Amino acid sequence: MENKTSIKPVKQELPSQFADRLGVEYSSSVSQQHKKENGQFFTPVEIAGLMASYSESDGDTIRILDPGCGSLILSCALVEHIVNTSKILRTLELVAYETDFELIPIAQQALAYLEKWVNQQGINIKTNLHTEDFILFNSDYFKQKGDLFSKPVELFDIVISNPPYFKLSIDDKRAKVAKVVVNGHPNIYAIFMALSATLLKENGELIFITPRSYAAGGYFKIFREYFFRIIDLDKVHLFISRKDTFSRDKVLQETVIIKGTKRLNREPHVTISSSGGLNDLKTPLTKVFPKKDIIDLSSNEKILYLPTTDNDEAVMEIFKNWSGNLKKYNIMISTGPVVAFRARDYLRENFENGTVQLAPLFWLHNVKQMVLEWPIVKPKKEQYINIEEKSRPLLIPNKNYILLRRFSSKDDKNRLIAAPYFFNFIQADFIGVENKVNYIYRKNGHLERSEVVGLCALLNSSLFDTFFRIFNGNVNVSATELREMSLPPLNTIQEIGNTIILANDFSVENTSRIVNEYFEPVYKT
Ligand SMILES: C[S@@+](CC[C@H](N)C(=O)[O-])C[C@H]1O[C@@H](n2cnc3c(N)ncnc32)[C@H](O)[C@@H]1O
Repeated sequence: MENKTSIKPVKQELPSQFADRLGVEYSSSVSQQHKKENGQFFTPVEIAGLMASYSESDGDTIRILDPGCGSLILSCALVEHIVNTSKILRTLELVAYETDFELIPIAQQALAYLEKWVNQQGINIKTNLHTEDFILFNSDYFKQKGDLFSKPVELFDIVISNPPYFKLSIDDKRAKVAKVVVNGHPNIYAIFMALSATLLKENGELIFITPRSYAAGGYFKIFREYFFRIIDLDKVHLFISRKDTFSRDKVLQETVIIKGTKRLNREPHVTISSSGGLNDLKTPLTKVFPKKDIIDLSSNEKILYLPTTDNDEAVMEIFKNWSGNLKKYNIMISTGPVVAFRARDYLRENFENGTVQLAPLFWLHNVKQMVLEWPIVKPKKEQYINIEEKSRPLLIPNKNYILLRRFSSKDDKNRLIAAPYFFNFIQADFIGVENKVNYIYRKNGHLERSEVVGLCALLNSSLFDTFFRIFNGNVNVSATELREMSLPPLNTIQEIGNTIILANDFSVENTSRIVNEYFEPVYKT
């Protein structure tokens, strides 16, 4: 394969700096489409340095794995770090994988320069750059039972990676071989993480930079179970700004670095640091948390909480002290059953008085904080649904509910947007709830007015918004996450509801103020 770059190392240049220049040049020569297809976003040299600095490995021989290596910047930064910090190192072994054929000559160029540099430091280095798909090449390791590998394997002391990010289709070969760690339409990065964890030696270190989406949500549940059973988390660094981290490659994801160790004897603490982006990388906000507050391995969902500020910490403390949740209060949350494009035959724009019986249909745009605005005329967002035999399974009985948006938009101030609905809002036996809205209800009974208002006020409050953002980095609000969320005692919820009803002021300002009076965060000094 021909190397199209004209870049040559300059005198005294570190391998990571050279790899960075190679990556920048390559990245500017390929299209956005090419990057998207390959999940290709190169790590800036400052971040590569930070990730490398997390390694504490030392030894006579150290084996490193860099899957999805790109221009090899992570390997270079890590090798520099180890060479600079180790006193006993004699041999390095580096195994890297890259599938983009045009990029391989560049990776080879970076590798040759790295080898030369390492040798100049009086250390041996053996390298192997695989041009195969990392997942398919190692797929046998997913068949492993316990610690028994189905074929002999040389495990690694450190895995460092910025893996590709994109969703795989259910029948993609890689999704199929990785069934034990992912389900549905998995994101390829989670398979890279799981496989890497498997390929580590006992006490080996794993350092990954990825989107933070695996921290919560049903799509990544089996991944979290698999991964956090093997990997004990030591450090997390969260990039708060979506734009800054990979700005030159236009990645708009909340990004997280994790460093963990493959060990059974778990450490009791995790260090969480955060920075806006690249500019303040050297002065991160750093806090240490008990591990059980960050990830509870005995919980069903194994959500990874990522608090970063004093306020986050104080808010977590409030939630920690609550033992209630929706299930304990016999309250359910379900997704609106009306999928608009499938239910078109029953949807109506105007109220028709006469033989047809109509129910109101609530869409995402009808749900505002603390208020259900209905009807709102919009094209193709019919505000009524026919009540007839065939549409009946799509309708729900007219009772008291809380309607909660399943998505917020990036511009919304709050992630959780909930509105109360009372049965006397309209005279109808049934109501319709569109699929982008969740509804909260009591299954065999009804929610008291005070419960509807109290719970709705909590969901819309800045307190809940802060807590929600600690574990959810995207705009989706899943029913499962809500089911797991701790709640204050039911009588407190009712009391809050009654206070708001008495004041007869349902504005978010008022309801938030009341919630804040009940639960004031206490900052640790
Ligand atoms: C997000 S980029 C990161 C590159 C490099 N590690 C860095 O930090 O700059 C991921 C790289 O993985 C490569 N890649 C994508 N799918 C792969 C696969 N299945 N096996 C190996 N490499 C893959 C892409 O071509 C891309 O260069």
